[in-house]
Amino acid sequence: MTSDEPARSLRDIGALTPEWAETFRAVPRTLFLPDLVWSYDMTTGRSVPVHRGDDPEAWERAAYADAPIVTQWDDGRHIGTEPGTVATSSASMPYVVASMLRDLDVSDGMRVLEVGTGTGWNAALLSRRLGSSHVASVEIDAAVVEQARTALKRAGLSPEVVQGDGRDGWPDGAPYDRVIVTAGVRAVPPAWLEQTRPGGIILVPWGTHYSDQDALVRLTVHEDGQASGPFLRMVEFMKLRAQRLDWNRFRGYVPAFPGDAEVSRTAVTLADLGGRNQPARFVAGLCVPDCAHVVNQTDQGTAKAWFFDLTSRSWAAVEFRSGEPVATVHQSGPRRLWDEVERALTWWAERGRPDLGRFGLTVGPDGATRAWLDRPADVLTFA
Ligand SMILES: C[S@@+](CC[C@H](N)C(=O)[O-])C[C@H]1O[C@@H](n2cnc3c(N)ncnc32)[C@H](O)[C@@H]1O
Repeated sequence: MTSDEPARSLRDIGALTPEWAETFRAVPRTLFLPDLVWSYDMTTGRSVPVHRGDDPEAWERAAYADAPIVTQWDDGRHIGTEPGTVATSSASMPYVVASMLRDLDVSDGMRVLEVGTGTGWNAALLSRRLGSSHVASVEIDAAVVEQARTALKRAGLSPEVVQGDGRDGWPDGAPYDRVIVTAGVRAVPPAWLEQTRPGGIILVPWGTHYSDQDALVRLTVHEDGQASGPFLRMVEFMKLRAQRLDWNRFRGYVPAFPGDAEVSRTAVTLADLGGRNQPARFVAGLCVPDCAHVVNQTDQGTAKAWFFDLTSRSWAAVEFRSGEPVATVHQSGPRRLWDEVERALTWWAERGRPDLGRFGLTVGPDGATRAWLDRPADVLTFA
């Protein structure tokens, strides 16, 4: 494969605009990948180690594939060739990189802040397009910063790469015309709003703790310090370090199942709850605040959907058995989480199951977040 081909195929699927095509050709992803990478196999869901020295052809194939490539596990604590537990740095999927740069809508002379430097490839593409002096990128991990700086230098580019917590932005380079975040965010930090000029755009994968899923939201910063805009599409990023959900916190919520939990029945099906990339799951997360949700499935055709409150020790579990028309609900604690989820799904169904693109987000100067349907004035209120 030549380095032209990835750019051509991204253009064919509409991710790459003509303005970005030359940039993608000039700044190949291969320059930014370490010798040992873990290529993500979309069919098996497994991360497969590939070492350039052992198998240069497989490494090239991985580098040019339209798939995410993990470059660090467990914040660098994991060593060796086997995958670690949590993927903590990566080169994002080229399709996602290209389409986010398209949505960022930059033009000559703009200043851009990136949060999550990772390999440095995205910062390199921005630097090539706008000039290195117009790009700053913040990365939390010291080793990742070093690798990115080396790769950028090798590519002849010199954006400012800062080691720090991207939640603080980078005030020295402000104001920015654009902020692009390449990690999943659960709370938009006020610093990003403060450091973006009015009329500027913050493009960020945002979500709730209800699921791992993020949705890309394009926020325009207003004169009054608020930022607001629509969701564009579902994505899934590794989360900002301080905003990962620690599932261990739910240990001890359910000392004995079902214990003294209140029991009821529901006609809602497992499919109604929505799966990966399906709006039902994301919308339920918008409507049921501070709730984490996971489904445990068994080979015997039963599935248990769990819901945990992040602010009290309330929990709910719904047991779905194949062939049975109703499921059994268990709820415990001051919050009735399942009732909230059911209400949210009914609300969504009554409105004709609006797609993600009809929802949006407003973030206040203090970081307070409100989700809305169709218009910023139509805030979702369920509490
Ligand atoms: C998906 S990778 C970024 C991919 C990158 N833009 C590229 O072109 O390769 C996410 C990165 O965000 C970094 N990160 C996580 N939390 C962060 C934080 N609070 N501030 C800055 N970077 C953070 C991770 O260390 C990781 O390198």
